[in-house]
Amino acid sequence: IENWTQVGSLTGELKDKYVLLRGRVQTIRAVAKKMAFLVVREKGFTVQCVVSEQPELVSRQMVKYVVGLSRESIVDVEGVVSVPNVAIKGATQQVEIQVRKVYCISKAMPTLPINIEDAARSEAEIEKALQAGEQLVRVNQDTRLNYRVLDIRTPANQGIFRIQCQVGAIFRQFLLSEGFVEIHTPKLIGGSSEGGASVFRLDYKGQPACLAQSPQLHKQMAICGDFGRVFEIGPVFRAEDSYTHRHLCEFTGLDVEMEIKTHYSEVMNIVDRLFVKMFDSLNENCKKELEAIDRQYPFEPLKYLRNTLRLTFEEGIQMLKDAGVEIDPLGDLNTEAERKLGQLVLEKYGTEFYILHRYPLAVRPFYTMPCYDNPTYSNSFDVFIRGEEIISGAQRVHVPEFLAERAQACGIDVKTIETYIDSFRYGAPPHGGFGVGLERVVMLFCGLNNIRKTSLFPRDPQRIAP
Ligand code: 4AD
Repeated sequence: IENWTQVGSLTGELKDKYVLLRGRVQTIRAVAKKMAFLVVREKGFTVQCVVSEQPELVSRQMVKYVVGLSRESIVDVEGVVSVPNVAIKGATQQVEIQVRKVYCISKAMPTLPINIEDAARSEAEIEKALQAGEQLVRVNQDTRLNYRVLDIRTPANQGIFRIQCQVGAIFRQFLLSEGFVEIHTPKLIGGSSEGGASVFRLDYKGQPACLAQSPQLHKQMAICGDFGRVFEIGPVFRAEDSYTHRHLCEFTGLDVEMEIKTHYSEVMNIVDRLFVKMFDSLNENCKKELEAIDRQYPFEPLKYLRNTLRLTFEEGIQMLKDAGVEIDPLGDLNTEAERKLGQLVLEKYGTEFYILHRYPLAVRPFYTMPCYDNPTYSNSFDVFIRGEEIISGAQRVHVPEFLAERAQACGIDVKTIETYIDSFRYGAPPHGGFGVGLERVVMLFCGLNNIRKTSLFPRDPQRIAP
């Protein structure tokens, strides 16, 4: 045999063909001494392999050997494809392999800290099994994360990270097609880029430094360097204190920065077209992945419009007030208010994806451009999925003297960002951009309830391993 066959490509068309597969032992069931059923899994697809004693072909020793294999071991299986008359339960592929040979390539330890089948069950399936008196262990989040290498083998997790890959790929493809240049900015920087307390400080060969809270300053400097439109996909570090369902200490930032000709709506137009394209493409090309996620964590597909709804912050505040929510008209929205507004927007406009813009200046970072007509507000926006923030963006201050003044007013030590402010002294175009949290987009698009589910090896205030 020269060619390997993928488990996922096994169909009735291969009937009577001799094939060679490599996969993991998902389950083994012995039927007397002469026969065993082995379910082999590869990339989320499973096939039932029948190991049955036959003179000259399969020895009883071979059956015994297979029964003794440990779950999750990696095996090579040789055999003939057959198509049974009845539907096969417990495997994705509707063909069987009549096994001739099995080789174990890598042995897993006999008892695993996580049983993959248990880890793959939905809450409804767990309830049903418990009611039926089945013995099973609910795999809690910490156990999953402690043994993440096993946990990510479940079909839902395979789906989540394949979707995460697609979100990054679509982001890159769309922006390249719109003339953006991909850049890579330093993650070791001299001072905080977003202000606030959430900075990891470190010693850089005797100089104070920190891990970049965003590529904010350097992506703007790239615009001063005449690239016109840039983007970056890279790690972002936040020394978060609070332990929440949506904050990580390290996440992947999808960042965009671009020249603006006349109005910050040019930046919102990019958000609008990029995300409608992204959602369309995920729905069309990731059906299997979405189904796998839905099977374990049931969710409704995201409701979004062809032209993304844009509301001003003032309109949002008014909607909340009309619904009886007491709220500071110039303060930031807390999580609860964001959720409530998400509900109101869904009821009124039928969308779970929208842009809220013209935020009060006081709640935005120092580099945000105030509105020309009313400096209490700013040329800024946040974007929401299902009532939670996935993006923040704005037009930036490109006048160096004013930028220094704003930094100072926001309590930032101007010395630590001097080279950034100087970049605007050699002529700087009006510009703006936005930052997207990759893990949040995947979490909210898939209706998941915790950002740890969409980070391969999450870093939160209590976790730095594995
Ligand atoms: O809202 P943030 O802090 O904005 C910036 O970093 C700006 N420099 C962006 C810009 O271009 N104006 O972060 C941007 C996005 C948030 O909307 C959120 O999706 C995500 O990054 N994010 C986090 N994701 C996970 N864990 C955290 N601790 C996050 N903090 C922000």
